[in-house]
Amino acid sequence: MFPKYIFPRRHILQFGLGALMGTIALAGAKILPLNRWAQAVESLNRTFAVDEKLPLKDRSIAKGLIYGAAGRYGDLLNTQKLADCFVQECGMLVPEWELKWFAGEQPLRPGPHQFDFTRADGMVEFAQANGLFVRGHTLVWHLSLPDWFEGIVNSQNARRFLVKHIKTVVGHYAGQMHSWDVVNEAIELNHERDDNLRKTPWLELLGSNYIDLAFRTAAEADPHALLVYNDYGLEYDRDTDESKRKAVLKLLEHLKARGTPIHALGIQSHLQGDATDFNPDRLRRFLSDVASLGLKILITELDVNDQKLPVDIEVRDRIVAGVYEDYLNVVLDEPAVIAVLTWGLSDRYTWLSQFNPRSDNAPVRSLPFDDQFNRKLAWNAMARAFDNARNR
Ligand code: XIL
Repeated sequence: MFPKYIFPRRHILQFGLGALMGTIALAGAKILPLNRWAQAVESLNRTFAVDEKLPLKDRSIAKGLIYGAAGRYGDLLNTQKLADCFVQECGMLVPEWELKWFAGEQPLRPGPHQFDFTRADGMVEFAQANGLFVRGHTLVWHLSLPDWFEGIVNSQNARRFLVKHIKTVVGHYAGQMHSWDVVNEAIELNHERDDNLRKTPWLELLGSNYIDLAFRTAAEADPHALLVYNDYGLEYDRDTDESKRKAVLKLLEHLKARGTPIHALGIQSHLQGDATDFNPDRLRRFLSDVASLGLKILITELDVNDQKLPVDIEVRDRIVAGVYEDYLNVVLDEPAVIAVLTWGLSDRYTWLSQFNPRSDNAPVRSLPFDDQFNRKLAWNAMARAFDNARNR
């Protein structure tokens, strides 16, 4: 068993009450009749049998892959079972809040000229003390910007603020980060630009070159880190995802053509348990197109939304497990895929409880471990997928 790691005393002293998650807004989700999902019904017949001895960490490493998960400073500090689960099952930790500009209780950027690395340092120390990689999320995003941003950052100083942020944050961890999500969610088809870029504050202030600037600045600050463009809505065989896949590919081709130091695409992979339009061949083609640009691929925020699944836990867990196994069997067949991160480890700490709650108010069950840190069938499904994956 891994040694029990206690957070440095200074972190315990500085830590206030755990962040209170927002109240769960009741979604009016409609529970669809089970017979509408061939895959789901098929999942009910699967045993998801697997030898349960080896943790996901060992199974992924055995194939030259990395498995990890997102976590929050307060949850890791306050819940020894979560910390133990990370140490046993994960080869990588992604701070869910602590490396965003402004998220959680003690944000990284409390002021225009301030950086508070307290919590991110605590998480990096925890990871390093337990042999986990760390990946940074995220340097440039249109969300999690501080309230002071709008009144302070303008077209005259935006470049200085962007470069200063990236140089300071990436430089602070130079040589310690597996990878960085340098730019997150920059594509938005509904904004109807020819280049399909989202009208973020960064685009408005700096123009479309902000993306290249961000990557070049990050590469200069840490030549060792893998630099990633990260986005969502790329997974299914539907017009929206197809258009977004095309737009993301076009962006990646453009960046590669201009010599931008980009190394990988992050596919967030927030999956839907009730989806009926998962098309393995369509996804395979996209993965292969990305790989043909010489890019690696990371599955960066994997989880399965069970909002519209039946409330019965036995049924719901099986459908969710089927989605995990079917998706991972496809993505892990692409040699360019190097890592799989779930967006959380335990149902006790999933963002979906707040952002995609069930209309019946039943606790969501989207991750490999339940709220008591017991392995679920989703864990079996992931273990089977890693065991079946080709060697890297
Ligand atoms: C989410 C966090 O999990 C939430 O706790 C927070 O309130 C909002 O952001 N895509 C991303 C992540 O890239 O940064 C988001 O994380 C989830 C969607």
